[in-house]
Amino acid sequence: MMATRATQRPVRAAPDGTEPARSVETGRDFEFTAADFARIRDLIHRVAGISLSDHKRDMAYSRLARRLRARGIDTFRQYLDLLEAENDPAEWEAFTNALTTNLTAFFREAHHFPILAEFVPRRSQPVSVWCSAASTGEEPYSIAMTLIEALGETGARQASVLATDIDTQVLAKAEAGVYQFDQVKHLSPERLKRFFLKGTGAHAGMVKVRPEVRALVRFEQLNLTDRDYQLRTQFDAIFCRNVMIYFDKPTQAQVLTRFEPLVKPGGLLFAGHSENFTYVTQAFRLRGQTVYELTRDASGARAPSRGHAHDALQSSGVAA
Ligand SMILES: C[S@@+](CC[C@H](N)C(=O)[O-])C[C@H]1O[C@@H](n2cnc3c(N)ncnc32)[C@H](O)[C@@H]1O
Repeated sequence: MMATRATQRPVRAAPDGTEPARSVETGRDFEFTAADFARIRDLIHRVAGISLSDHKRDMAYSRLARRLRARGIDTFRQYLDLLEAENDPAEWEAFTNALTTNLTAFFREAHHFPILAEFVPRRSQPVSVWCSAASTGEEPYSIAMTLIEALGETGARQASVLATDIDTQVLAKAEAGVYQFDQVKHLSPERLKRFFLKGTGAHAGMVKVRPEVRALVRFEQLNLTDRDYQLRTQFDAIFCRNVMIYFDKPTQAQVLTRFEPLVKPGGLLFAGHSENFTYVTQAFRLRGQTVYELTRDASGARAPSRGHAHDALQSSGVAA
């Protein structure tokens, strides 16, 4: 896509923080060239594995323009120069936070939760689940609620949910566990009563996740593109939903390779509705409805894929 150049000089934010007048020609406060966007794409791919498509250009502009205003910087080029030259972890964090997409919801892609509920009582206890792109918390709390429903209050007390995300801002919101009532109004009255406290007075219209649910979840920052996740435990299930879509195939393959040793034998991997790992890995095979199972058994040996097992039976003449 061609860059639209601002023909006026970029306008800085006023010292009192008020919005500056917008450039008449472009409707933009800052010049934003094709080279700037290409550089942003390269940097966010390097730090977070995120592949920004052309149509994310306006999104990148508007989210990062806030950083320019906050830093009192006149051009994207200066901002990106500063980002790379200063190597300031706080600015890199703000840059990354600005470019993530955090859309989520309680019990999103709802068919996964009955599968989890049916799965966990059959596992040796205590069960542990990793929610690897937790965003603002709705997903890990939905997992925790499912564990309580499936194992009972006492059974679930030993269970744990590790909730991670690269974005520190969403993690802070997740840790607070406070949401607008609108975000939970689709849940059953039983779930609302059992798992949420209703805000009153100044907090009217808000809900807070109950302490019993909150206690099951531990939040930590983790970048899925890091070489070593520093996780010294294995999980019965990993939720990795609606984040791989932002990664290219080589990055997806690397992430799945890192997941493999982190899943207990017989463990599950839950993917987002538009994510297909079948052509990316042999470590996991599709069990149905965007749920994958580990192909390795307890001895560490990889079980043959179903297709191969079927072929073997056919060729030995056992199949009917
Ligand atoms: C669209 S949200 C999906 C949230 C939730 N999993 C769901 O399905 O509702 C994608 C999340 O992935 C996170 N993310 C993006 N790149 C990441 C990375 N490299 N490592 C960890 N999390 C990442 C984003 O910050 C964002 O919160």
